[in-house]
Amino acid sequence: AAVLPYPKALVGQARSMQVNTPVSFSYPDADSPCVAIKMGQRVAGGVGPDGDVVAYSNLCTHMGCPLMYDPQTRSFKCPCHYSMFDPEKSGQMICGQATEDLPQIQLSYDAATDTVHAVAVTGLIYGRQANVL
Ligand code: FES
Repeated sequence: AAVLPYPKALVGQARSMQVNTPVSFSYPDADSPCVAIKMGQRVAGGVGPDGDVVAYSNLCTHMGCPLMYDPQTRSFKCPCHYSMFDPEKSGQMICGQATEDLPQIQLSYDAATDTVHAVAVTGLIYGRQANVL
């Protein structure tokens, strides 16, 4: 999928994030809800001191319903038609009506300040023709 760069936006501080607990933010603009998760183990695209912080669009790629993060299965679940996405595999669709993986928010990490920033989007956010501002 295409990677489109945007201005950096602050997500939070990696060491203060709780493992397996979603942190909400918007990126690349206020109409695009996203969620960051500290998985507790190194994962694809993960940043932070342990390489375990990842982030995704929180809109289902099927019809745009807001997703719920389920800490039990460590997956994003769609309440509308039950699609599931795996945050430990770059947002890969596990099952359901969606045909696209969940767009991953590319993150950068500054060790000196422990800050995580969103810097780009991989994949197309639901409802957009292109990931442009
Ligand atoms: Fe999520 Fe249909 S909108 S599965």
